[in-house]
Amino acid sequence: MSDTQFTPRVFSGIQPSGGLTLGNYLGALKRFVDMQNEGSFETVYCMVDLHAMTVWQNPADLRHNTRELAAGFIASGIDPSKSILINQSQVPEHAQLAWIFNCVARMGWMQRMTQFKDKAGKNAQNVSLGLFAYPALMAADILVYHATHVPVGDDQKQHLELTRDIAIKFNHDFEVDFFPVIEPVIEGAATRVMSLRDGSKKMSKSDPSDASRINMTDDADTIAKKIRKAKTDPEPLPSEAAGLEERPEARNLINIYSALAEMSVDAVMTDVGGKAFSEFKPMLAELAVEKLAPISTEMARLMNDQAEIDRILAHGAEQAREITAPILAKTYEIVGMIK
Ligand code: AMP
Ligand code: TRP
Repeated sequence: MSDTQFTPRVFSGIQPSGGLTLGNYLGALKRFVDMQNEGSFETVYCMVDLHAMTVWQNPADLRHNTRELAAGFIASGIDPSKSILINQSQVPEHAQLAWIFNCVARMGWMQRMTQFKDKAGKNAQNVSLGLFAYPALMAADILVYHATHVPVGDDQKQHLELTRDIAIKFNHDFEVDFFPVIEPVIEGAATRVMSLRDGSKKMSKSDPSDASRINMTDDADTIAKKIRKAKTDPEPLPSEAAGLEERPEARNLINIYSALAEMSVDAVMTDVGGKAFSEFKPMLAELAVEKLAPISTEMARLMNDQAEIDRILAHGAEQAREITAPILAKTYEIVGMIK
């Protein structure tokens, strides 16, 4: 383990693979903003374009999606004067440290990654080598900043455990106390926002059904319509959280409400217990529109000024490299590379 005191620093990333959903917002972006504003951490947030290209990306789309994601970060409240906002490929130390970690991580560790197994499916012989190595790059993203805290949604838990394993093995193999053993930050009511059509599936930008998700670019009418049509059961809402246990769709809508309203689930149940969905859904739609519409309007405005986005990212990369270059140089020295 590590006895060194590291600066409390947050790192997290999102893939610019097209489209941001309410799941990304509640599970990631909104919490990134909260940690930025809390004031107890340095915060670094990243568009992970190198991760996105582990599956095929049309180059023009990748460029567009990276800028759109940057707009999404800023519109959600990431302030480039408070946080370092970067695009992964513009800070080359991520990929450089990832190579070292490819030589630390073991094949067996990677083969256990459930996200790889899900994404590769029956096609495992034909996916890119990058998709397999993906979690070692993710560990490098985090550790090249000596980050200590990583806010993510529930689906990233296993990758963060692997990041800890890589740090521990590196420190052990080279007899140093150099990389921090990070803390995953997976908390709140919305670490796993589910599909609006199926309460057992994660809300995802890759779901073929657009009705299954709320996109951050959806307009007010679309948001309201999707919530009105969301799958539910015939019972009225219970007045205590325990009553949601066997009701995944109801629980999902309550969790979304709780996260958007910044109220505990218990407080929401006190307010809405006993109501029918026909009454609750319009309340949720109104709240979702109130919170999300300003973000999509601001995203559209920012997308009209791409030079400004590019300027922010260039500045972020410069700030980032002040942290990453010395950490990479020290890593090279530890492993025996000549300067
Ligand atoms: P991705 O879009 O896969 O790069 O995910 C970016 C971030 O959003 C990660 O921290 C994910 O855990 C989080 N995320 C994605 N989908 C969801 C969801 N349905 N519920 C909660 N968090 C999510
Ligand atoms: N793998 C993450 C996802 O798909 C994205 C990511 C890449 C990330 N590097 C990271 C998240 C580092 C947290 C920290 O959601």
